[in-house]
Amino acid sequence: MSELRTEPAPSRFLLPLLAGVVVLLALLGCSPALSQQPESVLGGDESAYVDAAACAGCHAEIAASYAQTGMARAFDAATPESMAHLGADTTFNHDKTGHSYQISQRDGAYYMQRHETAPDGSPTNVFEMRIDYIMGSGNHARSYVHQYSNGKLIEMPVGWYAENGGFLAMSPGFDSANHRGFRREIGFDCFGCHNGLSTFERGTDDRRRDPLFPGNLDRGIDCQRCHGPGLAHVEAASKGSDPALLRAAIFNPSHASRDRQIEVCMQCHLETTSRLLPHAVERFGRGAYSYRPGEPLSDFILHFDYPEGVREDRFEIAHAVYRLRK
Ligand code: HEC
Ligand code: HEC
Ligand code: HEC
Ligand code: HEC
Repeated sequence: MSELRTEPAPSRFLLPLLAGVVVLLALLGCSPALSQQPESVLGGDESAYVDAAACAGCHAEIAASYAQTGMARAFDAATPESMAHLGADTTFNHDKTGHSYQISQRDGAYYMQRHETAPDGSPTNVFEMRIDYIMGSGNHARSYVHQYSNGKLIEMPVGWYAENGGFLAMSPGFDSANHRGFRREIGFDCFGCHNGLSTFERGTDDRRRDPLFPGNLDRGIDCQRCHGPGLAHVEAASKGSDPALLRAAIFNPSHASRDRQIEVCMQCHLETTSRLLPHAVERFGRGAYSYRPGEPLSDFILHFDYPEGVREDRFEIAHAVYRLRK
């Protein structure tokens, strides 16, 4: 995934994020660090997630405003509504390979086709793959994703960029003569930063296995990525339990220490380097999706970092946390 950060003009990605972070910092800054949440809520019980839509039933206003954010729209199924961004501009020719790409709709499904052009002008070497999902809200960019029947996800070679009213071009990392074509698998990391995890079965996030994904994927980063699994809270609230009890059953970042607050964002917004070197290592025995908001992030993953002073003039995309910390 490291290639993603190499183009296009990265500063456009970062500025809106930093603006948002400043707003959030203001919010977090005002809240005193109260007592930590009880262990039981943070305990890594995968099955304790609820359907991502469940929270909206009681927190309608928060859900409606959160739905506007890029994070809430970071992953979606390919439907006429979500694909409307394409407009009439559905083709792209890649100079470095001489390949032409076209996105089309047939019987309610979307497809990306690639072909070469024979000397007589006719299409040859034609290949086609169904577009099942879109990754990226499109605030800046979108990647198109196919899912095989075994659950494997593939990032397709052509993506969409919002600039200048929107256009198709090679996805980050694909703009070369020998790119991976329709074979680049989406790993746990890529998915884990870009969607909710409420539909995953226990044990399917073992990093030693091929990353396979369920068919009923969430549509965007949900409340539980920041508030932790919500089943205990929803059950308590549905039974009309004592308000103190139902509040204790869900992680509220504003009641946590500053480190735990920032780590909620760091699970996705920290990348110490975008080079090919690994920028972090996960602890042994931890499933790819076992981090729970409220637990120390270093119990889950250890980040490599530059020595003090070296870091400041380097640029990486998902590193806003350095500034957040200041
Ligand atoms: C059945 C109704 C119901 C559902 C569903 C529900 N909540 Fe709540 N939630 C409540 C109530 C009631 C409170 C307490 C409100 C108050 O303190 O005034 C609350 C409080 C909270 C708090 C604040 C806790 C604190 O310590 O201050 C958070 C965070 C929260 N809910 C998140 C969620 C999330 C995330 C979901 C979905 C997983 C969810 N809620 C689903 C009813 C619900
Ligand atoms: C460490 C977490 C992380 C990983 C891993 C990661 N991303 Fe991202 N990605 C982000 C964050 C954070 C942003 C938003 C950056 C910003 O707005 O400053 C982003 C932005 C994007 C966007 C642009 C969305 C928009 O419109 O703003 C796309 C598309 C994208 N990523 C695709 C991918 C794909 C495909 C992969 C894997 C092959 C991947 N990302 C891996 C964290 C990650
Ligand atoms: C990107 C992380 C993030 C996501 C996603 C998120 N929250 Fe929060 N939420 C926070 C933070 C941080 C706070 C504490 C700061 C504050 O109060 O604004 C908070 C506070 C809350 C509170 C208590 C304060 C209040 O305003 O009542 C509730 C309830 C809540 N969130 C519900 C939700 C629900 C429901 C969703 C999904 C629709 C959601 N949150 C999605 C980070 C998040
Ligand atoms: C599950 C991973 C994840 C978590 C947790 C997370 N983010 Fe994000 N964030 C992303 C991704 C991915 C994007 C890009 C979404 C897109 O536009 O497609 C993003 C985008 C943003 C943006 C750009 C504006 C927008 O409309 O969304 C801001 C600001 C932001 N995040 C702040 C935060 C803060 C602050 C926290 C912690 C309270 C946080 N994020 C937690 C993954 C995450």
